[in-house]
Amino acid sequence: MANDSTADRDLARQSGTLADLPPATGEAFRDAIARLPSGVNIVTSAGSAGKAGFTATAVASVSDDPPTVLVCLNRKSPQNKLMRENAQFAVNLLPKDAVTLANIFAGRTGLHLEDRFKHGDWTTLTTGSPVLKGAVMALDCRLLSFEDVGSHTVYFGTVLATLTKPRHPEGAKEVLIYHDRHYGEA
Ligand SMILES: Cc1cc2nc3c(=O)[nH]c(=O)nc-3n(C[C@H](O)[C@H](O)[C@H](O)COP(=O)(O)O)c2cc1C
Repeated sequence: MANDSTADRDLARQSGTLADLPPATGEAFRDAIARLPSGVNIVTSAGSAGKAGFTATAVASVSDDPPTVLVCLNRKSPQNKLMRENAQFAVNLLPKDAVTLANIFAGRTGLHLEDRFKHGDWTTLTTGSPVLKGAVMALDCRLLSFEDVGSHTVYFGTVLATLTKPRHPEGAKEVLIYHDRHYGEA
């Protein structure tokens, strides 16, 4: 157990044994992280810079006081400019029957920006960012801050309004998930 202790890890860092190690390869990391089941979301943003949305599994709760979430967007996406200028976004957790919509917002059908919203039934809450009427839950956010980390930009949002669908009967699956590079249900 001694090797696992925080003190030992601090010591290893000081003596350079961990600090000198290169990071795992991108391929090894992608293979490992593919085993983590994740909810499938569509992150949207609307405002003076226009309207857009993308499918995302890199969404996480950060704090409940104040309510704060993060989403990660590839730095190559043109939606970065829009997220920053609009300074607001919404997270929509997809229901299990929304695979087609997930693929549209993942760019797999060749649709971009506003054209993706021709599919799905959309409304708004507080910020005006599109909220999917059939979402399992939605979080409407004001952009708090963002930071580039490697290939992606992490956007932090303060949650201004929520939509939560009533629960299905006990045990019924309702959420679209992504696991081992395939869609599933939870
Ligand atoms: C299941 C799934 C999850 C995804 N998760 C993310 C994600 O968390 N962050 C991201 O930047 N792209 C993610 N993508 C890819 C984007 O949805 C895709 O690149 C999208 O087209 C980006 O929008 P753009 O074409 O306007 O740049 C995911 C795709 C799929 C199919």
